[in-house]
Amino acid sequence: MKNNDDIITIDGPVGVGKSTVAKIISEKLGYTYLDTGAMYRAFSLKVIREKIPIEDVQKIVTLLPKTKIYFSENKVFMDGEDVSNIIRTREVEEIVSYISAIPEVRKYMVELQKEISSKGKVVMEGRDCGTVISPNAKYKFYLDASIEERAKRRLLDKKYQNQNLTLEEIKKTIERRDHIDKTRKDSPLRIPEDAVVINTDKLTIEEVTEKIIKYITEKKNIQNL
Ligand code: DC
Repeated sequence: MKNNDDIITIDGPVGVGKSTVAKIISEKLGYTYLDTGAMYRAFSLKVIREKIPIEDVQKIVTLLPKTKIYFSENKVFMDGEDVSNIIRTREVEEIVSYISAIPEVRKYMVELQKEISSKGKVVMEGRDCGTVISPNAKYKFYLDASIEERAKRRLLDKKYQNQNLTLEEIKKTIERRDHIDKTRKDSPLRIPEDAVVINTDKLTIEEVTEKIIKYITEKKNIQNL
């Protein structure tokens, strides 16, 4: 299969800084930024609003074609409403790992994500970007960090401050979500075989971003020799 030269994938667990890094890289390269997790979050919000219990998988699945999720200027819209902030609330966070583990939900979102990325020049981040959505992407990265470090970062992240959680509560939530993301049957979180793994424990966002840009630039230069 031909490698896709203008797709960059960044995978990794919850709270590792993927979205911040992906956003900066997309701006630097003039690429489109695709936050795949935001799509699962937006759909989870719809499930909450429709008051469907998470056990009622059949009803959740029938909601899929009735939900319109799209991006515009780095904001995520659900049924015409900008839900970029509201999808970061505790209520959404509590159910999103369950909702995103439903195979029909994944299939639906992956189709949409493939369609968005087929236009090229995309930096996408999530859990299955380099393994399922775009296995032929040329530049794949996997960010990792300890639970302690990820919880500390989440606590300081303005996007999540509406949750009013303590460090211990955040740690527990991260552990629970890691477990669900890594053990689900359908496309669990794993390191893509050909990904560059970056442990970000002792790195700043700028350092991580620089490492990624440097790697891509060097690889592109070698290719052009
Ligand atoms: O990256 P995030 O925290 O916004 O992701 C929200 C949830 O969506 C997370 O619990 C796992 C799921 N997810 C996924 O299953 N596949 C993706 N490509 C992105 C996110």
